[in-house]
Amino acid sequence: MQDKRRPDRLGAAPARLMIIAIILLAQGLVVGMGWWTGSRDLLTEVVDQFNRRVEASAQDTASGVALAIAKLEADSIEPDTEGGRRIGQMLGDLKLPGQSVISIVSEDGRELHHVGDAALGASSYTASVPLARFNAVLRVQAPAEQLVSARDAAASEINLRIWLGGSVIIMLTGIVALALISLHERRLVRANRVLGQQVISKDTDLLAAREGMILGLAKLADYRDTDTGQHLDRICEYSALLAQAASRRYPEIGEHFIRSLKLASSLHDIGKVGIPDAILLKPGALLPNERTLIEKHTTMGAQTLLSIRERFGEDELLDLGIDIALCHHERWDGTGYPNGLQGNEIPFAARIVSIVDVYDALTSVRVYKPAMSHKRAVSILREGRGTQFDPVLMDIFLSIADEFDTVRRTLQPLELTNPPLLRVA
Ligand SMILES: [Fe+2]
Ligand SMILES: [Fe+2]
Repeated sequence: MQDKRRPDRLGAAPARLMIIAIILLAQGLVVGMGWWTGSRDLLTEVVDQFNRRVEASAQDTASGVALAIAKLEADSIEPDTEGGRRIGQMLGDLKLPGQSVISIVSEDGRELHHVGDAALGASSYTASVPLARFNAVLRVQAPAEQLVSARDAAASEINLRIWLGGSVIIMLTGIVALALISLHERRLVRANRVLGQQVISKDTDLLAAREGMILGLAKLADYRDTDTGQHLDRICEYSALLAQAASRRYPEIGEHFIRSLKLASSLHDIGKVGIPDAILLKPGALLPNERTLIEKHTTMGAQTLLSIRERFGEDELLDLGIDIALCHHERWDGTGYPNGLQGNEIPFAARIVSIVDVYDALTSVRVYKPAMSHKRAVSILREGRGTQFDPVLMDIFLSIADEFDTVRRTLQPLELTNPPLLRVA
C-alpha cells in the first residue's frame, strides 16, 4: 500500500516555516520603519526641508522686490522724498506670502520702509538683498510661527502614515498567517484521515490474518476425523444461521456477536489434536477409558486457547472460542461433560454450537458411520429438546431447519453423502 503520510508531512514543514518567515518579515518591517524613522529623524528632515522652502521663498521675494525697486528708478529711498514715497507705495501694494514682513534698512540702521503687521521674533527667517544704489538692505522675514504649524502638520501626517502603514502590515500579516494556518490545518486533517484509513486497513488486514490462522488451526485438528475439513465451514455457517435466527428473539445478539461466533465455532474441537488416532478414528464402540480420554478434547482445547490468550491478552474472539471448546458437549439437563453444567450455566455460544455440531455430525460421514438424512437428523435433534439442547434454541433451530438443509446441500460434497460404511482417513 502506498504510504501517503510522507508527502503530507513534507508539506507541513514548509508551511510552518513560511508562516514563521512571513510573521518575522512583517514584524521586521514594522520595527525597521520605527528604526528608520528614528535614525533619520524624519520629522527634523521634513522641518528642515520646509525651512529651506521658506527661506527660498523669502529670498525670491526679496530678489523680486529689489528688482521692482530698481525698475522704479527712484533717485532716493528716503520716505520723505518723491522716490521714497513711490517705493513705499509699491511696497504697500505688494501681496506678501503668509505673514512675511518686508523692511528696508539704511546702512546706519534706520528702518526706512516697513510692510507687514506680524511681530517677528528672533527665530524668524530672513532673506536679505543689498540695495547698493541706496546704501540700504532689503530684508524679507518669515515668522517662526509658520514653521511651528508646518512642523506640527508634518508630524501629524508622518505619525498617521506610520500608524496606517504599521496597521496595514500587521493586518496583512494576520490574514496571511491565518490563511497559511488554515491551509496547514487542512493538510493535517487530510493526513490524519489518510493515517486513520491506513490504521483501519492494517487492522482489517491483521484481523483477516488472525481469522485465517484461527480457521487454519481449527481445520488442522478437524482433518483428523472428518471429511476434507468442510465440517468446520458448515459449523461456521450453521452457527451464524442459528445465531441470526436467535437474534430475532434476543435483541442483545448483534451482528458483531454473530460474526465472532461464526469464526469461534470453528475452534470447538481444536482439542482433538491431543487425542490419539487409535481412539479418535476407532470404528467401533469406545471403551470407558477411551471415552474418558476423548472427552478431554474439551478441556484440552480450552487450555490451548487459554495459553494463547495469556500471550495475546484479552481477546473477545478467544474468550468465545474457550467457552465453545469447553462447553459444546454440556447438556441442558446437566448430564453433559466436562463440568456437568446445566441450563443457562452453559454459555450461550456453546449451546448454539452444541446443536449445530450434532446436526452436522448426524448428516455427515464419519469413519464409523454413514451420513444420516436431514429429516432423520432433525427428528433426533427434536428428541433432545430440553434434555440435551436448550429448548428455546431448539425451537428456533426447528423453525429454520430447511435453511440448514440448504446450507448442507451447498457445502457438503455429494460423494460424501452416501459413502461406504468404513472409510480410511
Ligand atoms: Fe467435540
Ligand atoms: Fe465437531
